[in-house]
Amino acid sequence: MNTMNNIDTEAANDYWEKIFSSRNWGCYPPEELIRFVARNFYAVEDRKKIRILEIGCGPGPNIWYLVREGFSVAGIDGSASAIQQAKSRLLAEGLVSNPPLVELTVGNFISLPWQNNTFDAVIDIEALYANKKTDIEKSIDEVKRVLKPGGAFFSKMFADQTTGSDTGKVIEPNTISRPDSGPCAGNAIAHFFTFDEINLLLSDFKKVVINRLHRTEQNSDMQIYEWIVSASI
Ligand SMILES: C[S@@+](CC[C@H](N)C(=O)[O-])C[C@H]1O[C@@H](n2cnc3c(N)ncnc32)[C@H](O)[C@@H]1O
Repeated sequence: MNTMNNIDTEAANDYWEKIFSSRNWGCYPPEELIRFVARNFYAVEDRKKIRILEIGCGPGPNIWYLVREGFSVAGIDGSASAIQQAKSRLLAEGLVSNPPLVELTVGNFISLPWQNNTFDAVIDIEALYANKKTDIEKSIDEVKRVLKPGGAFFSKMFADQTTGSDTGKVIEPNTISRPDSGPCAGNAIAHFFTFDEINLLLSDFKKVVINRLHRTEQNSDMQIYEWIVSASI
């Protein structure tokens, strides 16, 4: 492994922009997110009153699901192409209402353009991991700020021991540029979280639940470990 002290965060954004402008992305949400939303919000009578933000929403597979389920949804992503694709899909499927229950914006989620105490839940489906540690910490501070008291945070994060996490250029402990294999192969920045680190990051949250998923691909040559995290503030 090589070491590298400086990595341009803009390069990371360019990386995602190139991905979304050149190939199709998944259309559907992961089942862990569906379970989290079902447990917390399916019983609510007026779902429009529940506001959910996705940080790093990409082309919107999770936004699409949440809008279809009747929640008020916001999403932010650094890639303009991704946000455009998310909007186009909602429009094509008649899911854009008046007044809008969905708000999609291009931007960096380390500084969220929403007021304090705005959301009942904030979700991160493998977007925080694509940042350096200091930016991840800033983003968690922003998540805390925009959540209503008692609001919930849900995250799916790549974990240490995932194939590729010991390849590429080390930017800082557990943060790699361009892993050469595994689910994050080629990513401009990939942070592989440890259990202790998540506990520390979420030390201001209550009811922190951290579960670990393990799956394999390529006849078990590729090992994929993910943390499924939920917490409330
Ligand atoms: C692996 S994709 C996941 C997209 C989406 N959450 C999904 O489940 O399909 C990571 C996404 O996070 C976005 N992202 C990463 N860091 C970001 C940041 N600091 N600000 C805004 N978007 C960011 C990328 O542009 C990309 O769309």
